[in-house]
Amino acid sequence: MQQPIGVFDSGYGGLTVLKEIVQQLPQYDYLYLGDNARSPYGTRSFDTVYHYTLQCVQWFFSQGCELVILACNTASAKALRTIQQNDLAAIGADKRVLGVIRPTTETIGNYSRSGAVGILGTNGTVQSMSYPIEIAKFFPGLRVYQQACPLWVPLIENNEYNTEGADYFVAKYLGELMMQSPDIDTLLLACTHYPLLLPRMTRFIPPGVEVISQGTIVARSLTDYLRRHPAMAERCSKNGQLAFYTTDSVTDFDNHAAVFFGKPVQSVHLAL
Ligand code: DGL
Repeated sequence: MQQPIGVFDSGYGGLTVLKEIVQQLPQYDYLYLGDNARSPYGTRSFDTVYHYTLQCVQWFFSQGCELVILACNTASAKALRTIQQNDLAAIGADKRVLGVIRPTTETIGNYSRSGAVGILGTNGTVQSMSYPIEIAKFFPGLRVYQQACPLWVPLIENNEYNTEGADYFVAKYLGELMMQSPDIDTLLLACTHYPLLLPRMTRFIPPGVEVISQGTIVARSLTDYLRRHPAMAERCSKNGQLAFYTTDSVTDFDNHAAVFFGKPVQSVHLAL
């Protein structure tokens, strides 16, 4: 693997995105990094998320990546713009770093008939206001309601996502969001971990409300990006290979990752 596409997350969540990307673009090579040793990112400051993410992007570049996808909403919200505007010129002027918020906000308005959407995300993503700000650019009339779900990532990371215990917090955050407006007909899972909670969510979601996960949206957008940027597509290597790295225990990563990725994963440890 010489020039794989880098896919980054604070932990496991980005694997739900990588899974869809590999399905749509199986010919490329992919290098996944989960910064599990320092996750969750959702509760950390702008500065901390920026420094952690930049360090990981530099690692991807040192491994030959020409293109890196931040498959983490928190990193996309708190670090992407600064990296693109301030750091890229110095660390890799011809390289590109893309996030998951832009492709999602470009399309989210197409799902809603009522003109009201709900965003479920980490504290960091919600507080950054990235979704309401970006959505306003593409769908100015769309009403956007947000709900932070701080307990969802810990439930998922601790393997409690498919239990009755999880139901309390699933119902709580969904209820708090739906209470903000009875018009909400589209819920966006704006955290790449959340698709794992989907089976528990369905019983608390009012009829007629559609739930959107980001994996397919991001995969479609990457396909389109590579079509519009043939020089970049050319530079990315195509042997259909995958490699996984984690900054924490490989045993834990491999046990958890299979659930997120949908098939067995063998990771390598990376000390940052
Ligand atoms: N998967 C990350 C996201 O999409 C959140 C997990 C975390 O808090 O580290 O925002």
